[in-house]
Amino acid sequence: MATRRMKSPSSVHLVAVFSLLVVAAAAEVFFEESFNDGWESRWVKSEWKKDENTAGEWNHTSGKWNGDANDKGIQTSEDYRFYAISAEFPEFSNKGKNLVFQFSVKHEQKLDCGGGYMKLLSGDVDQKKFGGDTPYSIMFGPDICGYSTKKVHAILTHNETNHLIKKEVPCETDQLTHVYTFILRPDATYSILIDNVEKQSGSLYSDWDILPPKKIKDQVPRNVNDQVTCLLQPEDWDDKEFIDDPEDKKPEGYDDIPEEITDPEAKKPEDWDDEEDGEWTAPTIPNPEYKGPWKAKKIKNPNYKGKWKAPMIDNPDFKDDPDLYVFPKLKYVGVELWQVKSGTLFDNVVICDDPEYAKSIAEETWGKQKDELKPRLKELNDNNYRGATERIQHIRNTLKIIQRNLSIKYTDSLALEEKDLLIQLEK
Ligand SMILES: *[C@@H]1O[C@H](CO)[C@@H](O)[C@H](O)[C@H]1NC(C)=O
Ligand SMILES: *[C@@H]1O[C@H](CO)[C@@H](O)[C@H](O)[C@H]1NC(C)=O
Ligand SMILES: *[C@@H]1O[C@H](CO)[C@@H](O)[C@H](O)[C@H]1NC(C)=O
Repeated sequence: MATRRMKSPSSVHLVAVFSLLVVAAAAEVFFEESFNDGWESRWVKSEWKKDENTAGEWNHTSGKWNGDANDKGIQTSEDYRFYAISAEFPEFSNKGKNLVFQFSVKHEQKLDCGGGYMKLLSGDVDQKKFGGDTPYSIMFGPDICGYSTKKVHAILTHNETNHLIKKEVPCETDQLTHVYTFILRPDATYSILIDNVEKQSGSLYSDWDILPPKKIKDQVPRNVNDQVTCLLQPEDWDDKEFIDDPEDKKPEGYDDIPEEITDPEAKKPEDWDDEEDGEWTAPTIPNPEYKGPWKAKKIKNPNYKGKWKAPMIDNPDFKDDPDLYVFPKLKYVGVELWQVKSGTLFDNVVICDDPEYAKSIAEETWGKQKDELKPRLKELNDNNYRGATERIQHIRNTLKIIQRNLSIKYTDSLALEEKDLLIQLEK
């Protein structure tokens, strides 16, 4: 690849010696949003789904539990709603640069099914119409549905086709804040981080099907009229690792050993009557001498050549694209979601060219608040639990009073009836 950027060990060392400040100062930040006051002037709420009354409202909040009540983000606030919102930044190309796309997301609602991903869009987008059909360049972030889907999406659009990452990247499923980072490098490698820890990495060439593979297995047509191909395993290729030992011979008389023998312990019952019950025969039992059909001992095959692997050859359909990683007209970032249960909170969006800078933002925000979140959530759950327990006690007490009141009324009316009857009898 023409644009492969090599870093010699000494330059890596230099970066490490110069402080983070130098690295941070060198970072180019294309977009950054911490959703402080004034955020609404930077973000455009789409009118998508408004006419169907299924467009959901965003809540500017730090959520029900947080590490800093003043650090707000935007949270989906209505169930069964579509959400679409986007922000514009000066158009840029990531050619020759790292592309780092990072944000935090917190699912406060114990998400059963729904997304927590964001999108980068290119070219000219009518932000008022941004919706599910608007073409995007990159879609990245967690997606949860039932037990089967709990993954991080990393979809790259090339030539109007969306390509999903082929590797599984599990996402977080709890109710705490997590930072998702996607890094795309000019050597066509990528990394996916959650909470500043690398969860997946590799190459655009192998982990997406954007281009056909560079190498393919050598194949041959099965027959002239048939498209089906098969691997070229030579006929004399011995792929059996173990064979029967030719030295091992079946012992004489082996096949004469019966599978079952008559039970030597069995005795004819005393009350057996040959005339009535027929002739007595002893029952049979499995023969302890019998060892099953004879099998020769296995030995290592001296001619074993290993499992057959088709030789790999250059794929004639592969045409390299040195700009495979390039998105030349990135210009918008957006959220476009359908939520059955709302409560997903986005915050601290960063789009830059420096993974170290993004990391420092994550540390400053999520990193400083993460230890507060768990106890807050626990406290809230404990309070809810206590609340529910108290309410149950109250209901039980009320039921008891109702029962007593009913029986008092019943006793009272019986007493009255008795009195009436007595009076009638006396008459
Ligand atoms: C916004 O979030 C806060 C904190 O969770 C909550 O108290 C408030 O009711 C929410 N507002 C709306 C309109 O959902
Ligand atoms: C883009 O996709 C179309 C339709 O799938 C295809 O015909 C065309 O060759 C593709 N172009 C490139 C540059 O891959
Ligand atoms: C029980 O009866 C008393 C007296 O009649 C009444 O004041 C009270 O509301 C009743 N309570 C319930 C729970 O029905």
